[in-house]
Amino acid sequence: MKATDKEQIIRGFMLACTKKTEGECFERMLFGANKVYGPIVIRIRKGDLLFLNNLDTNILFGVFKAVSIGKLDIEPDAWKGKFPYQVKVELLGERMPLKDARKILKKHKIKRNTPISGQTLIDLLNDFVSKPNLLNMRACKIVESIKTKIKERIHEVDIEKEIPIIEPTTFWDFPRQSYGLTPKGNNKYPGVTPALIIFNMVWRYTEPGDTVVDPMCGSGTTIDVCEEEQRECIGLDISPPKTRSDMIQSDARHIPLQSSSADMIFIDSPYGDNIKYNEHPGCVGKMSSETEKFYDELEKAMTEAHRILREGKVLGWLIGNQWVKHKFTPVGLKIYERLCKYFEPVDIICVARRGQTSHTGSWLNRARKFNFFLRGFKYLLIMRKPSKTKPSVRKSRKVNWSHYRRG
Ligand SMILES: C[S@@+](CC[C@H](N)C(=O)[O-])C[C@H]1O[C@@H](n2cnc3c(N)ncnc32)[C@H](O)[C@@H]1O
Repeated sequence: MKATDKEQIIRGFMLACTKKTEGECFERMLFGANKVYGPIVIRIRKGDLLFLNNLDTNILFGVFKAVSIGKLDIEPDAWKGKFPYQVKVELLGERMPLKDARKILKKHKIKRNTPISGQTLIDLLNDFVSKPNLLNMRACKIVESIKTKIKERIHEVDIEKEIPIIEPTTFWDFPRQSYGLTPKGNNKYPGVTPALIIFNMVWRYTEPGDTVVDPMCGSGTTIDVCEEEQRECIGLDISPPKTRSDMIQSDARHIPLQSSSADMIFIDSPYGDNIKYNEHPGCVGKMSSETEKFYDELEKAMTEAHRILREGKVLGWLIGNQWVKHKFTPVGLKIYERLCKYFEPVDIICVARRGQTSHTGSWLNRARKFNFFLRGFKYLLIMRKPSKTKPSVRKSRKVNWSHYRRG
């Protein structure tokens, strides 16, 4: 048998419902989730096993099989549109409810963003078939045959242990450059972007199928994240790596794309001339961020980004400040100022800088001794192209501040 003829590895996923939504799950044989769990649902394939946890009644329902892939809006009117990430399901034999869902999930260390595979999946299935009776005979038989299939490939893994979820605060700290089972970009590329920054931008500001553009795509991290998260991506760079045939050579100051064609733009631009990216004369990374010329050239990239972005859509610009030869340059603030000419601010994220070559013991000591700071963070400037039709005038509203009691 060829590797490609092999049956796919069976994985399991935990979905949730409440007293209010359970009925519709079973009437439609459709499980749904909101955007927070979108990254999990889109990873569900036909044939994966599904379980439904009623958060109110603490009952775990099994065992279901996905009969569609997980995707957006299979039935847009289900749950009045509140749970648009959906998957069609089929019951394997009889429906088997288990009490004490929370206890079971804790025992197997299962969370909603942890796909269930291998031995854990077998152990969970065992909980369902541990008490065969006349009412669940058919289901028990099916589950036993599925367990045999899982055992045949128990050591093979084709999905990450934990699927990332959206960051809730304005401070992001990612210990690794990549995530998932495949590399995102090239972690040896100078100034490569941590992939989870792009993952977060993509999940907050786009839907599957939307078009994301990265005009300074470097080693292609944005392209790889978009492929995994099911977005279309157009990656461009002044000097694309030879290994990336999926990237277009172009200058961010003249983007060869139509106006209003992008649903989101991500840019991790040079922060000055601190890194040598390539030999191309048009590389902005050859200019010092201590000169106004650097900002003038990046402003041209901003106007192009503004042109190709659809109204009301978002641009994420990653940028750090500079401290070189006793001189501090607030590059991030200067870029922010220029961006504000064209875009309105949505928010600013502080991203921890990890793996800096300057963070060696001797530099850390020098920073203390000679009273300067090593760079510890970058800004992710999240900006929106204003909408002409829907001006963003906020209605005045009453704010009820909550005060924490002092300890
Ligand atoms: C910080 S790197 C981007 C890293 C990328 N996000 C990644 O993860 O690999 C900045 C990139 O800007 C590109 N660049 C510099 N000037 C440019 C220009 N005028 N037009 C397009 N790209 C440019 C460089 O070639 C470099 O790849």
